[in-house]
Amino acid sequence: MIKVNSNFGKLQGSYLFSETAKRINAHAQAHPEAEIIRLGIGDVTMPICEAVSKAMHKAVDEMATKGGFHGYGPEQGYEFLRAAIAKNDYKARGVDIALDEIFVSDGSKCDTGNIGDILGSDCVVAVTDPVYPVYVDTNVMAGRSGDFDPATGRFKNIVYIVTDAGNSFVPEIPKQKVDIVYLCYPNNPTGMTLTRDQLKVWVDWANKEGVLILFDGAYERFITEDDVPHSIYEIEGAKTCAIEFRSFSKTAGFTGTRCAYTVVPKELMGRDDKGQAVSLNALWNRRHTTKFNGVSYVVQRGAEAVYSPEGRQQVESVLAYYLNNAKIILKGLADIGITAYGGVNSPYVWLKTPGGMDSWSFFDKLLKEANVAGTPGAGFGAAGEGYFRLTAFNTPENTERAIQRFASLNI
Ligand SMILES: Cc1ncc(COP(=O)(O)O)c(C=O)c1O
Repeated sequence: MIKVNSNFGKLQGSYLFSETAKRINAHAQAHPEAEIIRLGIGDVTMPICEAVSKAMHKAVDEMATKGGFHGYGPEQGYEFLRAAIAKNDYKARGVDIALDEIFVSDGSKCDTGNIGDILGSDCVVAVTDPVYPVYVDTNVMAGRSGDFDPATGRFKNIVYIVTDAGNSFVPEIPKQKVDIVYLCYPNNPTGMTLTRDQLKVWVDWANKEGVLILFDGAYERFITEDDVPHSIYEIEGAKTCAIEFRSFSKTAGFTGTRCAYTVVPKELMGRDDKGQAVSLNALWNRRHTTKFNGVSYVVQRGAEAVYSPEGRQQVESVLAYYLNNAKIILKGLADIGITAYGGVNSPYVWLKTPGGMDSWSFFDKLLKEANVAGTPGAGFGAAGEGYFRLTAFNTPENTERAIQRFASLNI
């Protein structure tokens, strides 16, 4: 008998983006003359920068020579890339991370999803609500979620921590006992961040209660404000309670190129069935080297070039381009009295739907009356209801036009 993992049966359909696409297509068909502007794009749109492209071309040429050919590389990543990461992303911010604490991979989606392999199946998981759905779905697959409750739109055994305007998007420490908590800052979808002091509260609590923080910093390079930490390890004590995920996807346009990394400090310990301390670094090393065969040499050379002086400058100008779009959105919304959050340290703007409209109704209204597409907040979790996500990944011209059209909405 082919017995399947029945937990998959508990997964809810990936309704959000298929449903938005369906409604956009239906509108486009009914109104072929409409020029729909998409501010729901969650992918980068600018090409990879010249420094990265050059480094990858050079690496391809090397691969075609006898002396420069690379076969299987170290599963954890080449030393040249891990050294660049340790120096630029950590040492430069006063944090010591050893090379054997860095694991290069093909994406933070995989890493945040796979990390559960080394954690007990009976761990209680907490997520913020709204949430990047990968954290929830991968725990459903692993059997940590319990059943889905249609009445609440939530899984019974997952602890949801509401982050909304009511708590200024600062999640409160859960009252229940939890073992693992996912924190994503700057946040997708809200675009909001935590200050050093606010993150310190979480680190102190996690150390006291023996909780593991899974910190997703995929949007780190969008941070513009000084009191926002770029890494959880800037907070004292984080090395004994946190794993950090970072990605070149949004930093340097690698969504199609694929490169990311995960930091698992050697001080970080879990407990086995007998209560013995076990190194999470050793477990992740075992898992990574068993199930993953390394990111290609060419891509790792490209990622290394992100840290070169030219690479830095080119990446900065692309990030400034996106952040300028976010500024256009924020200003335009403020001008017409729509309350919005995020967009300062993030490519995402999270607005309060006007007149208390539910987020799908606002989606339809915006599409039909203004030919602008965004993403309904309810798609990211029950606490996203009444909110709406706009992204900064379109062109400045389209972003301006979309925001002008908002002003014509009858709200
Ligand atoms: C919060 C968050 N983490 C991770 C990812 C995926 O990153 P990667 O492209 O490295 O898999 C995304 C992509 O949208 C994201 O929003």
